[in-house]
Amino acid sequence: MGVLKTMNRNCLTILLACVAAPGLAGAEPSSNVAWTVETHSMVKHGNPEIGADIEKVETEDVNACLDCHGERGAEPDRDKHPTLAGQVAAYTFKQLRDYKDGKRENRRMEEAVERLSDEQLAALAAWYASQPTPTVETDPDDKVSEETLQLVFRGDKKRLIQPCASCHGENGEGAIIDVPSIAGQNVKYFVQTMKDYAADKRTNDIYGRMRIIAKSLSREEINELALYYARLPEQPRRTNLFQALLQ
Ligand code: HEC
Ligand code: HEC
Repeated sequence: MGVLKTMNRNCLTILLACVAAPGLAGAEPSSNVAWTVETHSMVKHGNPEIGADIEKVETEDVNACLDCHGERGAEPDRDKHPTLAGQVAAYTFKQLRDYKDGKRENRRMEEAVERLSDEQLAALAAWYASQPTPTVETDPDDKVSEETLQLVFRGDKKRLIQPCASCHGENGEGAIIDVPSIAGQNVKYFVQTMKDYAADKRTNDIYGRMRIIAKSLSREEINELALYYARLPEQPRRTNLFQALLQ
């Protein structure tokens, strides 16, 4: 009996420790979006024409999407505003839901989506996905080193960095389900969001995959990766391995 009592007290102590410790039992999920059949189907059937209309809507206190991201999400008004044109629909939908749920923090974006339904978010995602990826102007004097290219295609075993291309695709085009296209993204936004992941200011990446990677990269590597991906849409497309085998 005495032994049992001690055991119970120990169990309780462990339980309380788990609840109190951040990152253990008390951790919040990084996103509320679960890729159920229903969510998938809704994003897949998002109506791009409705999305094209919503992008123009402004209210008394909230700007229209195109005021900040440009028409078709292709000409952001400022370098730090992301390009949305050509983005994977499921990724855009997830980000919009994450802002709505307060899982990705940005006051302007939270205000922009709070009045929109999931169907409207899916329509916007479909609209941007149907648009071509724009080209980005970069300074031709800025160079990308051989070591940075290695990170894209081979990663770095010493730092446990997986190659970017293994998730984002050989042309940076993104992948199922919600891996974003990063080709043709603004250099300044790319750098900013990588810094946010590294500083735990952006925490909506499931399993913390991008936070772990961003923390391992140097500032210079991030700058060069941003440059590499900004220029990618102008480069000849690489054929993916499976296509190469089929030819
Ligand atoms: C006042 C300017 C502003 C308005 C209006 C605005 N956005 Fe944004 N948007 C931003 C900024 C700034 C960011 C980057 C914020 C961050 O770092 O989280 C962003 C981020 C995003 C992202 C994430 C992109 C990515 O690559 O992760 C999406 C998607 C997006 N906006 C869509 C929209 C849509 C759709 C609307 C209209 C309903 C809209 N935005 C309205 C400024 C704006
Ligand atoms: C294990 C798979 C994986 C690897 C490897 C990976 N990424 Fe990502 N990356 C993701 C996912 C998933 C997201 C979206 C996370 C979210 O929902 O916020 C993302 C998001 C990003 C974003 C933000 C895009 C936007 O529009 O806001 C950038 C930039 C990025 N990754 C760059 C890189 C670079 C550079 C590398 C290589 C050094 C890399 N990633 C390696 C899976 C990966």
